[in-house]
Amino acid sequence: MQRTVVLLKPDTIQRGLIGEIIGRLEKKGLKLVAMKMMICGDSILDEHYAHHKDKPFFASLKKFMMSAPLVCMLWEGLDAVDVVRKMTGATNGRVADLGSIRGDLSNSQSNNLIHVSDSAESAQIEETRFFEKGEVFDWKRLADEAVYGEDEK
Ligand code: CMP
Repeated sequence: MQRTVVLLKPDTIQRGLIGEIIGRLEKKGLKLVAMKMMICGDSILDEHYAHHKDKPFFASLKKFMMSAPLVCMLWEGLDAVDVVRKMTGATNGRVADLGSIRGDLSNSQSNNLIHVSDSAESAQIEETRFFEKGEVFDWKRLADEAVYGEDEK
């Protein structure tokens, strides 16, 4: 099984969409293995968005990300990184496919509700960036028997 990091951004909290987004991930058959609220400081955002540091929107992105707590989660499943990326949709909510989280719920490029890991490698880096070992739960989910076929587990 693969794990992927999901951060619900301040606009999700402000708009009361936490349950909607978690519900979609649960209904897809993904398994929640860590979840917490967190207010990000400068250093973690500088690290997380290092690849955007020269972009004109870097300062406003950081201000936005610090404007309310994030809901930080770790979801597990077969091909979880690609599955959750597909469910999330394109960066800009105005062009993201309908049916995706951003396509259905966001109308903005910056306030796009959710961050998800973009590769298996970044998922591992982001897991250690946002979670301590003791915050990640290795639990047996009975629904796995129904969610996956015998040959997939
Ligand atoms: P995400 O893809 O999760 O990570 C980078 C974030 O920067 C992106 O979501 C948006 O929240 C934000 N972003 C990307 N492009 C722009 C832009 N042109 N203007 C403002 N914010 C942006």
